[in-house]
Amino acid sequence: MSGVPLIHPAAEGEEGKYVAGRHGHGHIKSFVRRAGRMSEAQERHYAEMMPKIGLVYTPQQVDLAAVYGRNAPKILEIGTGMGETTAKIADANRDNDYLGVEVHVPGVGALCKQIAERDLTNLRICQHDAVELVRDMLPEASLDGVHIFFPDPWHKARHNKRRLIQPPFVALLASRLKPGGYFHCATDWEEYAHQMLEVLTAEPTLINSSDGFAPRPEYRPLTKFENRGLRLGHGVWDVIFKKR
Ligand SMILES: C[S@@+](CC[C@H](N)C(=O)[O-])C[C@H]1O[C@@H](n2cnc3c(N)ncnc32)[C@H](O)[C@@H]1O
Repeated sequence: MSGVPLIHPAAEGEEGKYVAGRHGHGHIKSFVRRAGRMSEAQERHYAEMMPKIGLVYTPQQVDLAAVYGRNAPKILEIGTGMGETTAKIADANRDNDYLGVEVHVPGVGALCKQIAERDLTNLRICQHDAVELVRDMLPEASLDGVHIFFPDPWHKARHNKRRLIQPPFVALLASRLKPGGYFHCATDWEEYAHQMLEVLTAEPTLINSSDGFAPRPEYRPLTKFENRGLRLGHGVWDVIFKKR
């Protein structure tokens, strides 16, 4: 790919909107497609569950109440990874509806397995780029919460433009939150944590729920990886803002 900026500078009145690249490419992606094999069990659960709980990407707005068949708080989680946290949260909060978005196929397979084993009816998965899902399918003021846990830190400076937490995407996500809805990110990469705090603070429609970083709320379970890191003295930072 050349050095052409694929997220165009916003035209007046178009701030925060993602547009297709000048040369027909999409925006800069926050992920690279990784090869990876599904286990036999993941493959079986994927084939069984995705037709039932998969939300297929189409560039058309969806009615989330119709997707879940009920009016309940709707929480979006971007980058569910292997789905351990996602499944635990959905299991412990069955009165909420969750939408997980992930591009890594074995991760989607692992989450399908969790959904089947835990018999979760309040979790849907979209296997697609989160930026396009949010931009094209989610109506304004349709979400009660957004979770972005341990997004790829892209720690080489020349890759920083791939980070998810950047002003245009944060503005886009904030527009999809209802007034009073929350925006929760967490990372174990200190420099990214400060970027999160800075970018969310600069978004005028959001307000910090804490003075700086937030304590980890009960609903976000500690992962095995995080537990190990904490034992080794590594930090984890939660950033939680509210939509005005
Ligand atoms: C470092 S992992 C963290 C996974 C999980 N949240 C956790 O805490 O274990 C980040 C995940 O975000 C996914 N991801 C990154 N950008 C994405 C995007 N634009 N749309 C969907 N998934 C994305 C990656 O595929 C990866 O699985």
